[in-house]
Amino acid sequence: MILVTGGAGFIGSNFVLDWVAQTGEPVVNLDKLTYAGNRENLSSLDGDERHLFVRGDIGDGDLVAQLLAQHQPRAVLNFAAESHVDRSITGPEAFIQTNMVGTFRLLEAVRHHWLKLEGAARADFRFLHVSTDEVYGSLDAGAPAFTEQHRYEPNSPYSASKAASDHLVRAYHHTYGLPVLTTNCSNNYGPYHFPEKLIPLMIVNALAGRNLPVYGDGMQIRDWLYVKDHCSAIRRVLEAGTPGEVYNVGGHNEKPNIEIVQTICALLGELRPRADGKPYTAQIAYVKDRPGHDRRYAIDASRIERELGWKPAETFESGIRKTVTWYLENADWVERVQSGAYREWVAAQYA
Ligand code: NAD
Ligand code: DAU
Repeated sequence: MILVTGGAGFIGSNFVLDWVAQTGEPVVNLDKLTYAGNRENLSSLDGDERHLFVRGDIGDGDLVAQLLAQHQPRAVLNFAAESHVDRSITGPEAFIQTNMVGTFRLLEAVRHHWLKLEGAARADFRFLHVSTDEVYGSLDAGAPAFTEQHRYEPNSPYSASKAASDHLVRAYHHTYGLPVLTTNCSNNYGPYHFPEKLIPLMIVNALAGRNLPVYGDGMQIRDWLYVKDHCSAIRRVLEAGTPGEVYNVGGHNEKPNIEIVQTICALLGELRPRADGKPYTAQIAYVKDRPGHDRRYAIDASRIERELGWKPAETFESGIRKTVTWYLENADWVERVQSGAYREWVAAQYA
């Protein structure tokens, strides 16, 4: 079996659902259930013996040690993190605690467990760390996409805390020989994406008749990957990646934010037209920019494609249509995640 952390969040829950469906291998899922974690994402696995959910913190070394001793997973996959850049700007503390201290404690518990393993169990054990392209900083227009050799230049408290966790993971391989793998992926989108991030926020706001808040001039570029393609990349890296190595993951889908918003407006106009017949683009509002806003991210995924034979299955056109459709069909999920705390965040952030 495998141990997944953060498996009730956006990418983690997509990963767990796909993992069980595709491999049938049992998963222990350790998640703190912060505002971003949602047990409901995994409700289709209720009663399924292949999924054991444990509420807890990756920073709780005793709990992690106990789970490792009890379940003897062949791999630990770390998705758990504070993940929202805007929240890291208004309150960086939680990012330091989970992304840096939490990853450190998790690594320590895993290292002590791994040292006790013998033979094939020790040789085949893997720690896979799920990270982000934001650790590489911002690209100028026309500059080549991030390779695994690009220098680290994190610009937000979020990306700095992820960069620190990447360095710790690297050091645990270099110093202790722990068989680690790191993936640095570009922006994901798809089902179960918490509606504080650009794509789900725009869909949810558009349908609710609210403004579509575009930061600055809307010409910042992100490189979008459908979440299921990120999950297949992680499965492939776990299966065939070389310990100690880093794999960049991306979908070759660089797009300015305003184009993303316009695409969502067009799809909603087709699938759920506004009652007054006006286009959803009428709701677009340019708002104050994010402090320190990175201008452009782009991933060079040629290493994972060449060495591990991974390629994304979705185009942006197919993935965004699936995503908008999912949000239209899952209005009750959206309703339930918009708790009082969510409404307070939106009110403060977009005041
Ligand atoms: P998310 O915020 O949706 O989910 C994070 C999950 O981690 C939640 O379920 C939360 O409850 C859990 N968690 C938070 N702190 C925890 C702790 N201390 N102990 C245990 N669980 C904890 O995030 P996401 O978008 O699914 O991102 C998952 C991982 O992928 C993160 O490490 C993120 O940095 C990375 N990543 C995200 C993207 C993206 O576009 N979303 C892209 C590349 C990499
Ligand atoms: O690149 C990978 C990263 O992508 C992940 O590591 C992060 O966890 C994930 O949150 C994401 O970070 P971004 O900051 O790129 O994503 P976000 O959805 O917050 O914003 C995407 C772009 O849209 C960014 O340029 C800011 C802009 N934006 C965002 C929001 C929420 C707006 O213009 N308006 C908004 O209301």
